[in-house]
Amino acid sequence: MTKTTGIIGAMDVEVEAIKAAMERAEEKIISSIPFTVGTLHGKPAILARCGIGKVNAAVCAQIMISVFGVDEIINTGVAGAVAHGIVQNDMVVASRFVQHDVDTSPIGDPVGFVSTVNTIYFEADRGITERLRAAIGDKAHTLVGTIATGDQFVADKRVTEKLRTLFDAAACDMEGGAIAQVCTLAGVPFGAVRCISDSADEQATMDYPDFAAKAAATCSAMVIAYFA
Ligand code: ADE
Repeated sequence: MTKTTGIIGAMDVEVEAIKAAMERAEEKIISSIPFTVGTLHGKPAILARCGIGKVNAAVCAQIMISVFGVDEIINTGVAGAVAHGIVQNDMVVASRFVQHDVDTSPIGDPVGFVSTVNTIYFEADRGITERLRAAIGDKAHTLVGTIATGDQFVADKRVTEKLRTLFDAAACDMEGGAIAQVCTLAGVPFGAVRCISDSADEQATMDYPDFAAKAAATCSAMVIAYFA
């Protein structure tokens, strides 16, 4: 049986090129989220534009699993650079995720520790990560590393520094860690590919409007290549 892959992007700009590449596409709206059901290079795919942030992403991932029965989920979109030496239009493929805004340290847990799931890091599926890395090939400079997720657009180099030192993060986003948690709870393999739109520092708000669309298009091309 052929597997069905769920693809989640937060914003229209992050999914529109993928949607345009889908064959036999049909749209369904559930919980205000548009899902496109069809194929990519002939392989079953379900694409969603979940909206920005962890709750939107979590709702979307759970619908992908419970309603559409996807076999794996890939998160795609733009990200802020956290690791030294990565710049706009570079790619980051997730090896693992952390939710940097989860903090029960006042009651003795390490920052990022998700109680009841009892982990800080959510490991991406190794097969998905390898296939995403292979899909990019030498088309872009790529880092495989930790994606730090939180309900905030990071635009402060003190925060970026914290994400590097605490979690060894390569990039930051606002959805990946939430999708990772939902998939972990359900036992569904997951991964992410992100393209850098800004440096997550004081320059970020200036860079983002200029670079987000280009970075989103670059990332979408890599997701389409994953299905080839
Ligand atoms: N997505 C793209 N840039 C980001 C940033 N600086 N912080 C969080 N999410 C992002």
